[in-house]
Amino acid sequence: MVWFSHVDVFAVIFIIIAIYIYKNKEIFKLSWRLPGPTAWPIFGNAFAFLCKDEDLFERAVYLSSRYPSPMRIWFGPKFAFVVTNVVQAEKILSSMKFTTKDKMYKYMAVFNGEGLISGSGPKWKRDRRLMTPLFLKKNVIQHFPYILNHTKILAKLLEEKADKSIFNVIHDIQRCAADFVNETIIGIKTNAQGGELENLLENLTRMYTVVHARMVKVWLQVDWIFRFTKYKKLEETGKQVIHGFFREAIRINNETHVCTTKKDLSFRNLLDQMLDIRDDVTNFATDEELVHHLTTLYSASEDTVSTISSFTLMLLGIYPNIQSKVVEEILSVVGDRDIEEGDLARLVYLDMVIKEVLRLFPIAPFLAREASQDFQLDEWTIPKGCTVVVSIQNIHRDGKLWMKPNEFYPEHFLPEVVEKRHPYAFLPFSAGPRGCLGKPYAYMAMKIVLVTILQNYLVEAEGTLEDIRLKTDISVRTKDEIYPIRIRRRKK
Ligand code: HEM
Repeated sequence: MVWFSHVDVFAVIFIIIAIYIYKNKEIFKLSWRLPGPTAWPIFGNAFAFLCKDEDLFERAVYLSSRYPSPMRIWFGPKFAFVVTNVVQAEKILSSMKFTTKDKMYKYMAVFNGEGLISGSGPKWKRDRRLMTPLFLKKNVIQHFPYILNHTKILAKLLEEKADKSIFNVIHDIQRCAADFVNETIIGIKTNAQGGELENLLENLTRMYTVVHARMVKVWLQVDWIFRFTKYKKLEETGKQVIHGFFREAIRINNETHVCTTKKDLSFRNLLDQMLDIRDDVTNFATDEELVHHLTTLYSASEDTVSTISSFTLMLLGIYPNIQSKVVEEILSVVGDRDIEEGDLARLVYLDMVIKEVLRLFPIAPFLAREASQDFQLDEWTIPKGCTVVVSIQNIHRDGKLWMKPNEFYPEHFLPEVVEKRHPYAFLPFSAGPRGCLGKPYAYMAMKIVLVTILQNYLVEAEGTLEDIRLKTDISVRTKDEIYPIRIRRRKK
């Protein structure tokens, strides 16, 4: 039997640490020069994040607002170069050297695979290039009538809740969004508003919880530990249900898809258009890769549109004067008839209101990237492989960029005010080569939903903006995931 003395053990640990430091010497050099909370060996700033899961978001925002940009944070042994300054954010987000998603995204990839959000590298680059035309305004505008149809069903169903007590509006909007996203993007007709998709929706919510839990709980990142937790079972069932749903959508669309020579993209769902790409480009996507694209696009659209529309209704309930101005505009542009495509650009004040909601509640408050090559940011050399986090939340609340950073003030988006502001001060859709592809679809869908609801109902909400507490998983949400409003029928 061999006995090791304490000295031997310490010597081995010392050598391992020395090799680790030598291999990461550029990161340590950089860390040394940056401000940030006191970091401990191995644990880094873990103690600063000792709080309940739902408080992590507020803790991260607080920490990143205490130091000048750039600053450092150590998530255990993992270093992050954190940017909260708009000029630096532009340099990072607009660079091709930061198109690689951080390793954290691999937990999302369990569901989304190499889809556009979690994918990186040459496959992402090619898929993004091929799929970009599908998301252009002139293509997605064809989906307008389908979105409107489902929204009219929503307005009708809400009658049951009118002139009664407070309810959680996201429950209804999410089911409506599920139906229009399924018809326009996924290529199948569903009746979530009639209660048909409860199992899918439940599993999607669980999927977001599992992804988030693995991103923030370091021990769940160890595969063999994860295997023994409740999350593993949730992940397996979630994958089965969610991927099963999209596999079936692909099977149905494969049957009806006809190879087109004329590239007329109008009135065709996005999956069918992806099948067109597959007809033309060898290796574009296997059925399994299409499942990942659909899982990505579904959550990128349904979850975001429902959340931001619900936040907007809540804030309009809290600010009746702003709601009156929105309704006045709707009456003058749309009146009592159904909203039409031509109205979208003329709803200028509503547009400002939605943007202000996106400023206060950016869906992705922190963007994490990995430097694919060394990068010089002002006087700092960011080494290849280093994690860089851009804090959208801090930029959106920066008093040097916004007149009333912590208030709901749609006038932040008056054209003359926007003109004077830095173009990267408003980043709800991120920006640059990895910016959101779905922006035109998102604005169109949110305007249709909000106009149709506000034409029919007056919205009321209790509390104040300061009462709204946030948390984040794959998106920002209210802490209790409830968006309480009361609605009253409008007199026609
Ligand atoms: C209010 C609605 C939305 C907001 C605020 C939003 C925001 C964002 C943000 C911040 C990103 C970057 C994420 C990251 O870097 O991790 C992103 C990416 C993306 N979004 Fe959206 N999004 C919205 C709606 C949509 C919709 C409706 C679609 C599809 C129809 C969509 C499709 C995508 C795609 C495909 C990407 C990945 C782009 C890439 O990396 O190449 N989004 N979105």
